[in-house]
Amino acid sequence: MGIKRALITGVNGQDGSYLVELLLGKGYEVHGTLRRSSVFTTERIDHLMNDPDINEKTFFTYLADLADSSSLDVILEKVRPDEIYNLASMSHVRVSFDVPVYTGDINGLGVLRILEGIRRLELKDTKFYQASSSEMYGLTPSPQSELSPFNPVSPYGCAKLYGYHITRTYRWGYKIFASNGILFNHESERRGLTFVTRKITRAASRIKLGLQSKLSLGNLYAMRDWGHSRDYMKAIYMILQHDRPDDFVIATGIYHTIKEFLNAVFKYLDMDWKEFVICDDKYRRPNDVPALQGDASKARKELGWEPKIDFKTLVKLMVDNDMKEVKKELLVKDNG
Ligand code: GDD
Repeated sequence: MGIKRALITGVNGQDGSYLVELLLGKGYEVHGTLRRSSVFTTERIDHLMNDPDINEKTFFTYLADLADSSSLDVILEKVRPDEIYNLASMSHVRVSFDVPVYTGDINGLGVLRILEGIRRLELKDTKFYQASSSEMYGLTPSPQSELSPFNPVSPYGCAKLYGYHITRTYRWGYKIFASNGILFNHESERRGLTFVTRKITRAASRIKLGLQSKLSLGNLYAMRDWGHSRDYMKAIYMILQHDRPDDFVIATGIYHTIKEFLNAVFKYLDMDWKEFVICDDKYRRPNDVPALQGDASKARKELGWEPKIDFKTLVKLMVDNDMKEVKKELLVKDNG
């Protein structure tokens, strides 16, 4: 058997960057798409793009957009991947209320554009992974499993639900190996700075080092099941190695409020969050999902997947990393 080829859309995101590392480690040739931007957006994969041993032989990047079928078709035809991981999306739930139509186009129709490409090009041996989201459960009481009903309450959740259903439709209708991972929140040292966990770890580090005095947040009562992205990328790889296409919840099974996350972070830095946090309506959403807690027993049983990084370790990894980065920022400032 020859070298396996994977195509990852949104390869420069948090998840894409961990997935490339995993697949390169397994000997895959990896092709990744990024969206054009007027600023640099490759910092999470620069270490791979600039490594001559990796870059020249096994890792290739392309500009493409889920809004543009032709850009996807050219790549699909050229690469003819064994596995496609669709990680590209408009990933911010609150922002989806500001750009609902765009969110529907990318997170919903974008999935269809890839599936149509697979169908039209008759890529019969290509497996497809769709990054579905626990946001699709919306108001459904926790814990949520593959059998729970979906009740999305954000444009993001509604668009992701379309992506989920169209993936199943193409699986059944056209016999494509197309699977959904319903991933609960997953964070890391590479998490974007506007998601609540990283916003908190970055702000707490800046407060600790005297660069910031307050942290503005929205709803502190929401509950989320937070795991580490690296663990979750192992799960999605396992989903495509399974003997049949299927849908799997990926979660730790343990949830915490935003207040509990704040408490863990500030305590780790010997501070009291109540002295620094202010609530600002700007960060509230027209609807918020109150409680997400995943039941991943199916993935444990059928895939043998198990998360390794627990809540306490996640907090420690993120805070240690932000303290290091903020100290670097301080050094540059002092030397400048
Ligand atoms: N982002 C953000 N910023 N969220 C805040 C803030 C704030 O200042 N203050 C409170 N929150 C609350 C939000 O209202 C939400 O209840 C919770 O913190 C988590 O928000 P996010 O970190 O933005 O994540 P999310 O749960 O909305 O969405 C993430 O998880 C989904 C899976 O359930 C994203 O990664 C999605 O792309 C993913 O699909």
